[in-house]
Amino acid sequence: MTARSIRLAVIGGDGIGPEVVAEAIKVMRATGLQLDQTDYDLGSARWLRTGEILPDSVLTELAGHDAILLGAVGDPSVPSSVLERGLLLRLRFEFDQYVNLRPVRLYPGVSSPLTDVRPEAVDMLVIREGTEGPYIEAGGIMRKGTAAEVATQESINTAFGVGRVARYALQRAAERPRRKLTLVHKSNVLAYAGDLWRRTVAGLAAEFTEVSTEYCHMDAAAVYFLTQPERFDVIVTDNMFGDILTALGAAVAGGIGLAASANINPERTAPSMFEPVHGSAPDIAGKQKADPTAAILSAAMLCEHIGLAEEAARIEQAVAEDLLERQGAWAARSTAETGDDIAEQVAG
Ligand code: IPM
Ligand code: MN
Repeated sequence: MTARSIRLAVIGGDGIGPEVVAEAIKVMRATGLQLDQTDYDLGSARWLRTGEILPDSVLTELAGHDAILLGAVGDPSVPSSVLERGLLLRLRFEFDQYVNLRPVRLYPGVSSPLTDVRPEAVDMLVIREGTEGPYIEAGGIMRKGTAAEVATQESINTAFGVGRVARYALQRAAERPRRKLTLVHKSNVLAYAGDLWRRTVAGLAAEFTEVSTEYCHMDAAAVYFLTQPERFDVIVTDNMFGDILTALGAAVAGGIGLAASANINPERTAPSMFEPVHGSAPDIAGKQKADPTAAILSAAMLCEHIGLAEEAARIEQAVAEDLLERQGAWAARSTAETGDDIAEQVAG
């Protein structure tokens, strides 16, 4: 037990976001942590009501927290990309969360679409760059709606941005038993950006002689995720490839209902943000049908990041036990019942 109180900002957001986040908070409290929690009304409801997405005053308030827990963003009633760009990506960019950490782990008892795969074979840490690549608004549209329309969408890769995420990935690889880092890119076609990534990783790898590094093209990596997942330990990749690869990884590891993620600012100049990889799932929103496991595992990552390793381990252990017990029979419980069961395990 700890007496420390965490200043936690909570953005439930859209769809199933608020439901799953409530369970993550329940489980965090079950560790004995004191939460000084502030809920922020951001997402489609606020946008529809007021036209606001992320007011600067809210951004300033969020900056004063130890961490942000986010549920999901996006709703069919809001035009595509408004909330994604204006809320989720803006938070990642403004708080300089350049490390998007996404573990891909197959827990014992969870069934993977891969047949005959051993849980130990799927244990990777994907480190997706979070502030650059094609996610930056570089480009534009000319002659919109005409037959001569031109749309460009550039991918921005800087020596600074690639260097800092590559260094972080090497550090994480050095801490893991296998000490292996794979750079995933598409340097046979995206020759400029690919070259920068490859040279950067190779240059920094000289400082980490204990880590073995390899390179893999994105398309080949997609194949290996399905045929030889044991190939990978730590992966570093750009924002867009990382988005795709971690969705595939989530599927391999038992579905997006289990995939956790952390948007980390390693220098701690601003809060980091923790969110399940799944989206808002509007079709099942409010029905207590969503699996809160991804949100709960994201809360464990939050604890780990703010130095509460013991609490993080307890939450993860409780999730692992729950996954083993349920044996794929997820739908038998509601969102809250699953949270209750995991919270009970955590409380011991
Ligand atoms: C994710 C999501 C986001 C992304 C979207 C909603 C902006 O797909 O977190 O993986 O592309 O990063
Ligand atoms: Mn995604």
